[in-house]
Amino acid sequence: MTINSETLLKLFQLIIVVTLLFSVEHVFGVEDAEVSCVENERAALLNLKQQLLDDYNRLSSWGTEEYQKDCCRWKGVGCDDQTGHVIILDLHGPSDSFKPLRGYISPLFELKQLEYLDLSYNDFSGTILSNISSLTRLHFLNLSRAGFGDDAIQDHLGNLSKLRTLDLSDNSFFMLKILSGSLVFVY
Ligand SMILES: *[C@@H]1O[C@H](CO)[C@@H](O)[C@H](O)[C@H]1NC(C)=O
Ligand SMILES: *[C@@H]1O[C@H](CO)[C@@H](O)[C@H](O)[C@H]1NC(C)=O
Ligand SMILES: *[C@@H]1O[C@H](CO)[C@@H](O)[C@H](O)[C@H]1NC(C)=O
Repeated sequence: MTINSETLLKLFQLIIVVTLLFSVEHVFGVEDAEVSCVENERAALLNLKQQLLDDYNRLSSWGTEEYQKDCCRWKGVGCDDQTGHVIILDLHGPSDSFKPLRGYISPLFELKQLEYLDLSYNDFSGTILSNISSLTRLHFLNLSRAGFGDDAIQDHLGNLSKLRTLDLSDNSFFMLKILSGSLVFVY
């Protein structure tokens, strides 16, 4: 194939147009037009971060800077594509070394659409359990090795009718003391 100057010129024009399109998108922030996170849910997550001790900077992507304003891009947070509501909160610690988030985990009831909650492998001294019954859309709940202490967890799970996976292993819940072993329900 021979490339004549007309083809070259067309190619050159195409490159310029594509480059311009990309820079226009960049300058005017067209990508920000997508659904981003819901304001009160973002505030609830920031509030949660504030109450936790994050010794290993695991939540460094959670913040108030301009480039961080979309909480759906924060580590461990997942949103519904259509509505922007937070549906996933995955705060599980790394499995290769114990780098827990510590402290009191506050109620998450602002995150009403939450479907997937993983708090495993942390050291939460407080409890969210008394409020967990308000997260009625939950279908996955992993509290394994999360540091939760004595609490009759079964009292709080009754309303979670969508729950399909529940992992409570390695905590000191009342129920576990009876069974003295790990407890994983998957149904
Ligand atoms: C729950 O979390 C622990 C620790 O992160 C993990 O080993 C376990 O497989 C998880 N359970 C389920 C049912 O996913
Ligand atoms: C959360 O739990 C606390 C303590 O049990 C209770 O006072 C509060 O009303 C609960 N909030 C919601 C929204 O369920
Ligand atoms: C479960 O839901 C019912 C009806 O919505 C409500 O009256 C009850 O207080 C809830 N139970 C708990 C433990 O939140």
